[in-house]
Amino acid sequence: MKYPLPENFLWGGAVAANQCEGAWNIDGKGMSTADCMTVGAADQAREYTDGVLEGKFYPNHQGIDFYHYYKEDIALFAEMGFKCLRTSIAWSRIFPEGDETDPNEKGLQFYDDLFDECLKYGIEPVVTISHYETPYGLVRKYGSWRNRKLIDFYCRYCTVLFRRYQHKVKYWMTFNEINCIALHPETAAGIRIEDGEDFDQVVYQAAHHELIASALAVSAGQQINSDFKIGMMMIYPLTYAETCNPEDAVRQMKMMDMHTFFSDVQVRGAYSHKAKKMLEAKGVKLQMETDDERILKAGVVDYIGFSYYMSTVASADPGKQRINGNMLQGIQNPYLRVSEWGWQIDPIGLRLSLNQLYDRYQLPLFIVENGLGAQDHLEVDGRVHDFYRIDYLRAHIEQMILAVEEDGVDLMGYTPWGCIDLVSASTGEMSKRYGFIYVDRDDNGQGTLRRYKKDSFSWYKKVIESRGTDLD
Ligand code: BG6
Repeated sequence: MKYPLPENFLWGGAVAANQCEGAWNIDGKGMSTADCMTVGAADQAREYTDGVLEGKFYPNHQGIDFYHYYKEDIALFAEMGFKCLRTSIAWSRIFPEGDETDPNEKGLQFYDDLFDECLKYGIEPVVTISHYETPYGLVRKYGSWRNRKLIDFYCRYCTVLFRRYQHKVKYWMTFNEINCIALHPETAAGIRIEDGEDFDQVVYQAAHHELIASALAVSAGQQINSDFKIGMMMIYPLTYAETCNPEDAVRQMKMMDMHTFFSDVQVRGAYSHKAKKMLEAKGVKLQMETDDERILKAGVVDYIGFSYYMSTVASADPGKQRINGNMLQGIQNPYLRVSEWGWQIDPIGLRLSLNQLYDRYQLPLFIVENGLGAQDHLEVDGRVHDFYRIDYLRAHIEQMILAVEEDGVDLMGYTPWGCIDLVSASTGEMSKRYGFIYVDRDDNGQGTLRRYKKDSFSWYKKVIESRGTDLD
């Protein structure tokens, strides 16, 4: 690459509390929706059970036991030269049932210690406030985000976090992949759709509650510390039209509209005309309170965080065979290879995504997830030769730098997903690994939990050291 990325570029890695911490019922933590997700497989969906049932295996209960290993793990991140670590706070560690008035001190203390450990190495914490876990008490008693009461519980939680960590955390994101509520409401927001219920009505009402909660949180955060940078976070589902048939182009536009529906509100502070038409067409009647429009306007975000793993293809022909990807389905792209889990690998798509988002919003962007889920082989000498992961990341970083250097995109940082192996969100597998650090744990929860550096570990260290100029 021609020039190094700026000195203050946030190179790092990303994890989420529910997928790595484990310690699911320790030090006062309550049960969360992620604790009720059984193990699945590449071709078998996880089951979202009503509470924790006997005889089922719940891989998030132990995760990779980051709760106890965090010092060792952060030392490894520091060795790679991380400038930041994106992690989330487990809501049910702070409010075990979700509706208490007082927080759990032991939970708060854990994150104080975690952030102190990061800061000791000059690693800036980047915090997702809610990443695919809701206190299960809120599901049982209120039906999760379908209920407007969740806004108050969430805002109380945010205020506690903002006050407590205001001198340790500057970068926040309100909800992980907020647009996924419309695709997988149970994973994203703990919502069960009951028989006979109108999916769209329930989901978009719940989404409205999240959007209001997010806007209120942004406003509250800015009051508490005006230096905070509070962002939104979406899955960016780059979609191509299958052919130059205008019908395919319309289909592609509609697929993207489903996602910009959310970012438009969080960035611009209002539902777009198109969003209103889309709700109308679906027969959704949003229940809004008189102050809602003002709240949305006041609580616009400072930056856009997004995840990018793959791209997909839209066709107007409903008969076309569809393949699965990250939370989405689409048509196979003949120009792209796929990962072992069938996700279409598209580095140039990252450059296009950065451009599309920046052209649309002119807000700073932050790539907060990207990476390759792959099976790794731990050699007898303790090494892991993950050249395929290096290839994937190199190709994506090249395109990211082109977007910055040639296209002028304002990019804050890059945090590849699962910088240490963790439990997969979609399948619950451990064998779908993303990390620079291998964790000895298998899909059945067996293993020593010992950590090993993969080949990608020293490679990424060099990338960070050279600020992106040495990708070999
Ligand atoms: C993102 C989620 O969609 O994809 C993460 O924010 C998730 O939580 C990541 O882990 C990768 O997906 P998976 O299913 O391979 O874990």
